[in-house]
Amino acid sequence: MKQISDYLETNNQKFVEELIEYLRFPSVSAQSKHKIDMTNCAQWLASHGRSIGLKTKVHKTSGHPIVTLTTKQKTNGSKPHFLVYGHYDVQPPEPLELWTSSPFAPEVRKGNLFARGASDNKGQHFAHLKAVEAYLKTNTELPCDLTFLIEGEEEVGGEALVSFLKKNKRELKCEGVVVSDTGMPDLKHPALTYALRGVAALEVRIEGPNRDLHSGIYGGAIENPAIALSKLLAKMIDKNGRITVPGFYNDVIKLSAYERKQMARIPFNERNFKKLLGVKSLFGEKGFTPNEHRAARPTFEINGLTSGYQGEGSKTIVPSYASAKITMRLVPNQNAAKILRIVAQHIKKLCPETMKIKVELGHVADPYIVSPKGGLAKAALKSLKSAFGHEPVLLREGGSIPIVEHFAQILKVDTYLLGLALPDDNLHSPNEKIDLEVFKRGIKMSAHLWKNFAEA
Ligand code: BES
Ligand code: ZN
Repeated sequence: MKQISDYLETNNQKFVEELIEYLRFPSVSAQSKHKIDMTNCAQWLASHGRSIGLKTKVHKTSGHPIVTLTTKQKTNGSKPHFLVYGHYDVQPPEPLELWTSSPFAPEVRKGNLFARGASDNKGQHFAHLKAVEAYLKTNTELPCDLTFLIEGEEEVGGEALVSFLKKNKRELKCEGVVVSDTGMPDLKHPALTYALRGVAALEVRIEGPNRDLHSGIYGGAIENPAIALSKLLAKMIDKNGRITVPGFYNDVIKLSAYERKQMARIPFNERNFKKLLGVKSLFGEKGFTPNEHRAARPTFEINGLTSGYQGEGSKTIVPSYASAKITMRLVPNQNAAKILRIVAQHIKKLCPETMKIKVELGHVADPYIVSPKGGLAKAALKSLKSAFGHEPVLLREGGSIPIVEHFAQILKVDTYLLGLALPDDNLHSPNEKIDLEVFKRGIKMSAHLWKNFAEA
């Protein structure tokens, strides 16, 4: 390990510069104007992998390319094999005016590297790549074979990787998957996440008159679609913060007393939390704590709401339609496809007679949960402790990584979620960043991980 730690120490600045290069690609999967940037980014990653000695390939898909980078040679196969998953696509950077430095012109300020994708997820999987580089460049034998699977559609719920897994099941056969795409409470609390929420997306559009109308001539005689949709949506959550769709909670596993106790131990300061978010007070389902709300309870969110005139000044109309983009977060054992079906049905039922309704079903991801007690989980915890110098915590987290449940279903393996995002990393928000100390320790953690996994 000495040679490896020396290599990491000597090359830390180089790693940051390379990450900066990676972050310059505006790889926004949601926006078609960035299609070429997606391909360029994938190709850069592959050629970077080649330069450190990995066998790499950019796989075309019906959507954005998938990149694989592997230490595996055709001739071997005696070592344990692990996958490292990550995504090179990023969320749209808008609103741009709220960024201190431009999202794709990475900048280091006070030990943080600011750029869209710095933490979610380029910086996090790049840390693993740099650990492997340290093994390869110091001619230290890697005790495991590793295959990096880096996709370009995570942030849009794309399906390309699911087909890829099914098609390449044999090559991807492995003992487990490692993912760094979650969070840790702070530098003193490195974390192993053992549960993620799922997600289900839909769009509702209700239609009234066949065009926007003069509200003085017609208003009062027909129902306003914006008001009708507002009323409908307001019925979805009751005053206790419970989702009102019949059957919605049927499959939710009750939180055990043990889990609730663990969740209560995770640092949470309500005053700081309110201040960080700029909210007057918190709101959540009655009978649960904010830590539980955010990690282990399902939600119903309106992500976007549109109707009528939004431009400058006033316009006296009755709009022709109103629409909403909706996503729900789901918890074990809810089934995302089933929930989507019952919610869509319920929404249709709530539509008033005065309106036509269209409900379009969107992407789904099932929630994930695994026991954090096995040998590999212990090896992961040990690696976190060595790199961060503090006892790791076990977390359930509220975000979703759709492919993780597919690893379980298709490859029949567990996923070890070793997140490197701090709460103030601004994932999906303006001024996203990665803490360079966390990046450095993340690389170290990964270097330990393969040794500890092989021994487990
Ligand atoms: N890295 C996040 C997921 C995450 C964030 C998990 C924080 C735990 C803590 C990931 O990139 C993400 O944003 N996923 C999307 C998936 C969705 C588009 C299907 C999400 O959760 O919104
Ligand atoms: Zn994300």
